[in-house]
Amino acid sequence: MTRFHGKTALVTGAAGGIGSAIVRMLRAEGARVAVADRDVSGVTADAHLPGDLTDALYVDGLAQAAFDALGALDILVNNAGIITRGDITKASDEDFRRTMAVNVEAPFRLCRAAVPIMAAAGGGAIVNTSSCWGLRPGPDHPVYVMSKAAIASLTQCLGRDHAHQGIRVNAVCPNEVDTPMLRTGFALRGFDPATAIAELDRTVPLGRVAQPEDIAEVVLFLASDAARYMCGALVEVNGGKAVS
Ligand SMILES: NC(=O)c1ccc[n+]([C@@H]2O[C@H](COP(=O)([O-])OP(=O)(O)OC[C@H]3O[C@@H](n4cnc5c(N)ncnc54)[C@H](O)[C@@H]3O)[C@@H](O)[C@H]2O)c1
Repeated sequence: MTRFHGKTALVTGAAGGIGSAIVRMLRAEGARVAVADRDVSGVTADAHLPGDLTDALYVDGLAQAAFDALGALDILVNNAGIITRGDITKASDEDFRRTMAVNVEAPFRLCRAAVPIMAAAGGGAIVNTSSCWGLRPGPDHPVYVMSKAAIASLTQCLGRDHAHQGIRVNAVCPNEVDTPMLRTGFALRGFDPATAIAELDRTVPLGRVAQPEDIAEVVLFLASDAARYMCGALVEVNGGKAVS
């Protein structure tokens, strides 16, 4: 398929579970992709832009660096994220600062830099990564949940503010996805990740938690012309499992 032939994209969190699927699938459909993560040495891509998203100087220059490397910037996927676990009494100042820096401030800085670049080219698509937990709170993760609510709100604001420039801003909102983020959480709590995921599978009406590709498909749709009339949408991808 060549849905993204001639298109260029920047993907953050490109070495992670969902991010690596997004990069692989965008490239398979013809896009040239710049990848950002702390370590991108194992990621096949058209431009490698490693760095730490808590470093404001790095983040502020990332969209332009992708533009310079690829010659254009049609698509920005703000996928990187970290999860901070535990109720509010367990959350340190550093947990709060770091979660907001990666999950909210970095996408804010990236969108701020990408919008003028895309506007000058006549348009573009930004896909942010919120969560079902950004729309309704899951239990005992207040710092993570508020960060995902913030990115959902930013998406709605920018979707409205920049539609007139041909820039569509939307977000994907997954429930549980089988990635290192989910597995390390189980391991930290002393559970065997494979057993815990098998148990979690039974809580999902479709019968299984999402695989990274299930989420990447929706990211690609939102980035594509098929979603040409969507601006500020928060798209839940949850296998039928509501947050309770
Ligand atoms: N896995 C799930 O169940 C789930 C559910 C809902 C939403 N999400 C969201 O999906 C996105 C992708 O998550 P994933 O499950 O693939 O997780 P993951 O841990 O596999 O990947 C996240 C990536 O972000 C990168 N990253 C984190 N902090 C960074 C920093 N400071 N600088 C640069 N890169 C950094 C990591 O190195 C990693 O490669 C996240 O925004 C996450 O919140 C995941």
